[in-house]
Amino acid sequence: MTPPRDLPTRRLAVAPMLDWTDRFYRYFARQLTRRTWLYTEMVTTGALLHGDAARHLRFDPCEHPLALQLGGSEPAALAQCARLATEWGYDEINLNVGCPSERVQSGAFGACLMAEPALVADCLKAMQDVTDRAVTVKHRIGIDTREDYAFVRDFVGTVHQRSGCQVFVVHARNAILKGLSPKENREIPPLKYAYVSRLKADFPQLEILINGGFRTWRDVEAQWPEVDGVMIGREAYHNPWLLAEADPRGWGCPAPAPGRRAVAEAMAAFAERQIAEGAPLKAITRHILGLYHGQPGARQWRRMLSDPARLRSNNPRLILDASDAVELRTAA
Ligand SMILES: Cc1cc2nc3c(=O)[nH]c(=O)nc-3n(C[C@H](O)[C@H](O)[C@H](O)COP(=O)(O)O)c2cc1C
Repeated sequence: MTPPRDLPTRRLAVAPMLDWTDRFYRYFARQLTRRTWLYTEMVTTGALLHGDAARHLRFDPCEHPLALQLGGSEPAALAQCARLATEWGYDEINLNVGCPSERVQSGAFGACLMAEPALVADCLKAMQDVTDRAVTVKHRIGIDTREDYAFVRDFVGTVHQRSGCQVFVVHARNAILKGLSPKENREIPPLKYAYVSRLKADFPQLEILINGGFRTWRDVEAQWPEVDGVMIGREAYHNPWLLAEADPRGWGCPAPAPGRRAVAEAMAAFAERQIAEGAPLKAITRHILGLYHGQPGARQWRRMLSDPARLRSNNPRLILDASDAVELRTAA
């Protein structure tokens, strides 16, 4: 399967999030924005090579532009996964060098790889050698007590020089490898956006995306003159309607969805198809709870779509009923 030829720029991306950015969420995000880059959850090389690859790799054609995020540190295994990603038609393959979880560290990948830029370069190079897709890296600005700008500058410099990697997605905080949970690691280490703009100034030829803490269009747009793109994580999940402005603001194109109701209808039709293939309704509704975030009736929408008794019926009509309840209330 070949990817679409005209890929948009990476002005905006939705971050890879384990358990959140699965194919059901990504289909939903695509009802809101056509051009924003989407990333899968991190998939480890072991899970892909020894598990059910199709379950991890399957996606709907509407999900382009789409990146597969890999977790691993063995060049040969990563190359095999990059080959698979290419066959399945992904547009980009991203290596996770930012995850601080202890489980990931024991596999010797994720954020601890920031201490080994030569190995990261070997991994990226092994992937590039087998694919014509963009091979990119997502990383932090430092690990543990290495908080100086020089550390991340040298990481990016070495990785680029040794592998030729052109695209760096920078989560603008340190990762603390011992003592903080992954969740705390997304909240406690301070955000240092200035490090990321400095990277762009020092490596103007590279594509640099900034990530961490973006919640409003004002903050996103303030970054566009500084760096090449912005990656949004939690806010794109909890407040997905934010993405409805992505295409007009980012690329000057009309938004695909005329309103929340149209998105609910598209998701009900999608749920019907997925349920016919054996997915439970909840696998889809859990990702759309934020659709009416901040609107009157948002609580009712969430309550109806997370009610175990209603979900048990596995009837996609529930999505329309919940939307009716909210929309009628708004109209009243
Ligand atoms: C539930 C959850 C799961 C995450 N899983 C991943 C992952 O699989 N790979 C990764 O690189 N980052 C992962 N992250 C980190 C995000 O990609 C992002 O870097 C982080 O949330 C900061 O961006 P934000 O402040 O916009 O959320 C995860 C974050 C969350 C909240």
